[in-house]
Amino acid sequence: MAAVFRDHLLQDKRAVITGGGSGINLRIAERFAEHGAQLGLIGRNQEKLDQAVAGITSKGGRAMGFSADVRDYAALESALKTFKDTVGEIDIVVCGAAGNFPAPALGMSANGFKAVIDIDVLGTFNTCRAAYQFLRKPGASIVNISATHAFSPIAFQAHVCAAKAGVDMLTRTLALEWGQPGVRVNSIAPGPIDETEGMKRLGPTPEIRKKITQSIPLRRFGTKDEIADLALFLCSEAAGYITGAVFVCDGGQSLAGSSGLMAALSLS
Ligand code: COA
Repeated sequence: MAAVFRDHLLQDKRAVITGGGSGINLRIAERFAEHGAQLGLIGRNQEKLDQAVAGITSKGGRAMGFSADVRDYAALESALKTFKDTVGEIDIVVCGAAGNFPAPALGMSANGFKAVIDIDVLGTFNTCRAAYQFLRKPGASIVNISATHAFSPIAFQAHVCAAKAGVDMLTRTLALEWGQPGVRVNSIAPGPIDETEGMKRLGPTPEIRKKITQSIPLRRFGTKDEIADLALFLCSEAAGYITGAVFVCDGGQSLAGSSGLMAALSLS
């Protein structure tokens, strides 16, 4: 078991992260780089990717950026192929690209609903489907970034709730289909994570932040580092027998449903 406790849990592993230019996904990328992985970051915004790559390489990490929209299968496949041709077979894929905006169901158009479904569900499918051919098998690990919305409905988030439920079922289905060739597929469902774009929008004032905090059993927001550490675990040998699982990381908030959060946000 000594291997599990190495300092560099992902030494020389090749990892692709969609949405890797910012937020939780960037923190996952930074953590993976600290643990020796070579990174391919995929995103829509070239400037964000360039900044993310510069930040990682300035600390001695290895990273490349690829501009592609996860809704565009051909562009995604081309980015993944270039990464694989440059560094070798891919060991890790994190599907983190996601869309969100708060709106009541009657306040979002069919196209608004579709935009989030397309980024989250189709984008995750596209990434997994296109990456499969380039994965090292056995041994590859895929982590899909979901949310507690997948099982705990919340007002003004119909599109995200539907999308994340779809992402988690995709995780389970792919884990079934790809277990035999030795590819593990798991989801992480973060709850309220501090310093993310979503939390900045949801909790813009100290008063609202205080109310949200009171709805969390652990009485604090989670950190991006805590999600990155969970992703690191899932992509390491320590998680070698785990597949098809959804890991909730939310300080216990979803245990009581979303009514506390909705009250904090004055949505109920
Ligand atoms: N309320 C209601 N509808 C909205 C909206 C809002 N706040 N923001 C976007 N929409 C609608 C648009 O009006 C459009 O519908 P329409 O054509 O009927 O007018 C539809 O969503 C698509 O908008 P568009 O800006 O063209 O989509 P996009 O693909 O460029 O952006 C989003 C996708 C909408 C998810 C956008 O919010 C986004 O890219 N966000 C960045 C990523 C993000 O949210 N990260 C956080 C993840 S937790």
